[in-house]
Amino acid sequence: MTAPQVAVVTGAGSGIGRELALACAREGMKLVISDIEAAALAQTQALVEAVGAPCLAQACDVSKAADVEQLAQACWRTWGGVDWLFNNAGVAVLGPAWEASEADWQWVLGVNVMGVANGVRSFVPRMLERGTPAHVVNTSSAAGLATLPGSAVYCATKHAVVAFSECLAKDLEQTGVPIGVSVLCPSLLPTGILRSQRNRPVSLGVSGPTAPAHEERVRAGMAASTIDASDVARMTLEAIHARRFYVIPHAHTGASVERRMQQILGDFRAIHQESTR
Ligand SMILES: NC(=O)c1ccc[n+]([C@@H]2O[C@H](COP(=O)([O-])OP(=O)(O)OC[C@H]3O[C@@H](n4cnc5c(N)ncnc54)[C@H](O)[C@@H]3O)[C@@H](O)[C@H]2O)c1
Repeated sequence: MTAPQVAVVTGAGSGIGRELALACAREGMKLVISDIEAAALAQTQALVEAVGAPCLAQACDVSKAADVEQLAQACWRTWGGVDWLFNNAGVAVLGPAWEASEADWQWVLGVNVMGVANGVRSFVPRMLERGTPAHVVNTSSAAGLATLPGSAVYCATKHAVVAFSECLAKDLEQTGVPIGVSVLCPSLLPTGILRSQRNRPVSLGVSGPTAPAHEERVRAGMAASTIDASDVARMTLEAIHARRFYVIPHAHTGASVERRMQQILGDFRAIHQESTR
């Protein structure tokens, strides 16, 4: 099998996206990087080129289908296709479920869910037509596998990304074209995500103040992480090579997933085992 040649990363201007781009560059791949922040994207481009990888940088708001379609067109025009697609861009709001405004929902759903959907809509049909092995990685979160207070909107979008990715993998299996799927589910680690508001469209206004306790919890969780964005990128590429679906970089995530599953099955058994007694 020929080695993968071209990787596309959204949200590549910072954090996990930047490290995914660098990890692909170190594998000898050509890069197409995109972000809503042009200056940050240019910094990533310089870092990728310093590794020796050819790199096309294109500004793109993933919540806009037309932007993502233009990104796919640029990839095919420049390099004739894409082998690995990383739908990574994401934003977060914090606060109790009932306090999220309509604009908060619109913004976070637009970037975290429609951003991934737009990537799949523009890239996967082209990958299918090309017919060569490929891989799609959608960045969700440990918040897409479990739940916690103060993160209802974010958790809802990240659970949607996990479900969408599971369905995408099943749909692709039926095509017979070897396109793999992975869903990346990190827990908290230090990146720019606490400053997500920097990319909120002016038209949506600013969101209400975040309760300091929620922000403090996130900050503490990030500081406590024993892994950083480069570790997450390395584990993600290992998962692609191993064709593993769930990429769960933090060891402590397993316990939260187990707790949630036990609660679901506990309530299920409370009804169904009692009714068969
Ligand atoms: N950092 C964490 O603790 C953590 C944990 C789990 C999952 N994640 C997920 O990792 C992904 C990357 O986030 P990060 O933590 O590296 O944060 P980050 O803020 O450092 O990087 C996110 C990037 O996405 C870009 N972006 C924001 N809105 C965009 C839009 N509309 N279109 C295109 N690009 C846009 C930003 O400019 C930024 O460069 C996100 O999907 C996030 O939800 C992060």
